[in-house]
Amino acid sequence: MSFTTKIWIGMILIFLCIQVIQPTHNSSEGALSTDISEVVIVPKNVHDILKVSCYDCHSNKTEYTWYSWVQPGASFRSYHITKGKNNLNFSEFGSYSKRKQAHKLQSIIEQVKNELMPIATYTAFHKKAKLSVADKDLITVGRIAAILKTTNSHEN
Ligand code: HEC
Repeated sequence: MSFTTKIWIGMILIFLCIQVIQPTHNSSEGALSTDISEVVIVPKNVHDILKVSCYDCHSNKTEYTWYSWVQPGASFRSYHITKGKNNLNFSEFGSYSKRKQAHKLQSIIEQVKNELMPIATYTAFHKKAKLSVADKDLITVGRIAAILKTTNSHEN
């Protein structure tokens, strides 16, 4: 057996071994009363965009695909989910103060405008999550911006 073959076999074995280690599932059941759609008026088309492009990392409901479980990608994804949820959780948006909600909506507009979200390494594998120009407009100059206005005017 050549040296290169041994290296390859070693790498395949390592790859197989790390598959055993799996991060916990991020998928709570049922509708959540604190979901953003329950506390601010989000038009269905905007909510659908958020669900497809953002909810995997920013909610308590990640849609898993078969390759979500292939390591080391699975750990990378789990890391993104934990970090993403800590920053912004659409499932728990209702538990934020009005001030925090307004701040997060503003932040969403900025992240999308500057093309920082959804994360590029994610959209490389999830083509559906890529935002079209129309999607981006809907968020940055359209509906999310309108929601932000109403949220602000309710502030006291
Ligand atoms: C692959 C996972 C992933 C996806 C998909 C994703 N995000 Fe993020 N998001 C993150 C992570 C991780 C952070 C934290 C970034 C950091 O700390 O550098 C973040 C941060 C943010 C923030 C900053 C929150 C703050 O504290 O102000 C906003 C806003 C945001 N994301 C919005 C979105 C929106 C809107 C979408 C969908 C269009 C989206 N994200 C899709 C992972 C993701």
